[in-house]
Amino acid sequence: MKKTFHVVGFGALNVDKLYRVNKIAYEDEESFIIDFMEACGGSAANTIVGLARLGLKTGFIGKVAQDREGKLLIEDFKREGVDTSMIIVTKRGRSGTVIGFVDEKGERALYVDPGVNDEISFEELNIDLIKNTEFLHLSSFVGDKSFETQKKLVEEVADEVKVSFDPGTLYVKRGLEALKPILKNSFLLLPSGEELKILTGKSVREGAKVLLRLGAEIVAVKLGKEGCYVTDGKEEHFIKAYSVKVVDTTGAGDAFNSGFLFGLVKNKDLYECGKLGNLIASRCITKMGARTGLPKLAEIQKII
Ligand SMILES: Nc1ncnc2c1ncn2[C@@H]1O[C@H](COP(=O)(O)OP(=O)(O)OP(=O)(O)O)[C@@H](O)[C@H]1O
Ligand SMILES: [Mg+2]
Repeated sequence: MKKTFHVVGFGALNVDKLYRVNKIAYEDEESFIIDFMEACGGSAANTIVGLARLGLKTGFIGKVAQDREGKLLIEDFKREGVDTSMIIVTKRGRSGTVIGFVDEKGERALYVDPGVNDEISFEELNIDLIKNTEFLHLSSFVGDKSFETQKKLVEEVADEVKVSFDPGTLYVKRGLEALKPILKNSFLLLPSGEELKILTGKSVREGAKVLLRLGAEIVAVKLGKEGCYVTDGKEEHFIKAYSVKVVDTTGAGDAFNSGFLFGLVKNKDLYECGKLGNLIASRCITKMGARTGLPKLAEIQKII
């Protein structure tokens, strides 16, 4: 039976508020704001926007409040063609925000307000709707409640939906044992090299083996300017990154996930999926911000 969605994302939704300042203020100091920029973010949300631009049918599970930021986050998804019917809008609380200060040297200070992102309970999810996707892509939450919900959801749907998981630094710090309920039900795991090391204590190839043994079908490890390592236990490839002029690496990992998942949906082989991950990531890092450089399908069709 044909599914409604190719990929549905489930992770934190944030509005990033970035202030350019003369100097990052320390205790009892005063600094000045030179410029202000606002953008919608969240790891899985970025990945889903990347997939929507590539023409896939996408949706998102998350939670926002009835505030200006909540409206922005939903409107932004709609503009990108992402289905928002699974996003919970709550009367109480604040939508997630990240407030960032960047000085003239590019040094950053970040304050994260998870807000209602951390308040998603399993009972609020529409399981039947969620089962109507080929892939369910998860990224991290700050708090415990939404993490617990993700674990329960994955156990509930893993028979019918392929789970894809980018743990990020936040989740790998919880340790292998805590993540096992998700890891063992995942089809695809997308850690970075450093995250894999924290999680397994092992180098790339050995670390990937640990994750395959736990139950994943495919492990794709993001290796920054080195590219990526991909394996399904039968084949393995180290795939070189594209050589591009780097402007801002924010969201590179999320963009990689878009490219890799796009490849899987299009039934490409493992090597091609890794190359597509590198390709979409390489586009992302040539522009400021996590989403500006994410290409439309027409822009990459000639090279894939
Ligand atoms: N300097 C670079 N040149 C070319 N490609 C790059 C460069 N840095 C990153 N990439 C591409 O971006 C992908 C993801 O980057 P990275 O390995 O840093 O992921 P990450 O640590 O998950 O990033 P993020 O901070 O976005 O979560 C890499 O696998 C590679 O394809
Ligand atoms: Mg990452």
